[in-house]
Amino acid sequence: MAGKLLPRFLLFLSLTRLASPDKFTVGDSQAWNYNVNYTDWVDKHKPFHVGDWLVFYYQSGMADVIQVDEAAYNKCDASNPISNYSKGRSYAFQLNHTGPYYFICSRGFCYGGMRLAIVAEPLPPPSSPPTSQHLSAGPRSSHAGAYPLLSVAVVATSFLFLP
Ligand SMILES: *[C@@H]1O[C@H](CO)[C@@H](O)[C@H](O)[C@H]1NC(C)=O
Ligand SMILES: *[C@@H]1O[C@H](CO)[C@@H](O)[C@H](O)[C@H]1NC(C)=O
Ligand SMILES: *[C@@H]1O[C@H](CO)[C@@H](O)[C@H](O)[C@H]1NC(C)=O
Repeated sequence: MAGKLLPRFLLFLSLTRLASPDKFTVGDSQAWNYNVNYTDWVDKHKPFHVGDWLVFYYQSGMADVIQVDEAAYNKCDASNPISNYSKGRSYAFQLNHTGPYYFICSRGFCYGGMRLAIVAEPLPPPSSPPTSQHLSAGPRSSHAGAYPLLSVAVVATSFLFLP
């Protein structure tokens, strides 16, 4: 048992060094609140990656963080949550698989925009090549150096799905 787990653990350690997860404060200084447009917030901060953390800060007792599916997100329906968190003043949630995540507040503010839809993308190479939106797309510089790390990231992704 331990002989099987140890290599995975070491692999995990090396991966956590390569793919440093980011921590996002949902809503930035506006936090998790009504009257915040989280679609705009997501557009400003994406892409999000597997391993990143979302930290919801809210007024104690005034809000909750309900993870739902897409249909419930669209309807602001908190009656069948995937997860439900309302304690204290903050909640840290790790994006531990790729794909979409949906969060709403069940306290009546969802219709006003207090809902968050984000997509967790596969792990990137540790340092993304710098991009500039001001320059027109020229030939992209060689990314040869990134390939070994990219394959490590692929291994990392499959590692997450090991039983
Ligand atoms: C979340 O859980 C609390 C405590 O278990 C419960 O009182 C509340 O109704 C739940 N909220 C939703 C939206 O499921
Ligand atoms: C991912 O997160 C969810 C909710 O926090 C948890 O139930 C699940 O066990 C996690 N999966 C992995 C592979 O860590
Ligand atoms: C958020 O802003 C976008 C445009 O940036 C707009 O299309 C959308 O309707 C807004 N959402 C809410 C809930 O106001």
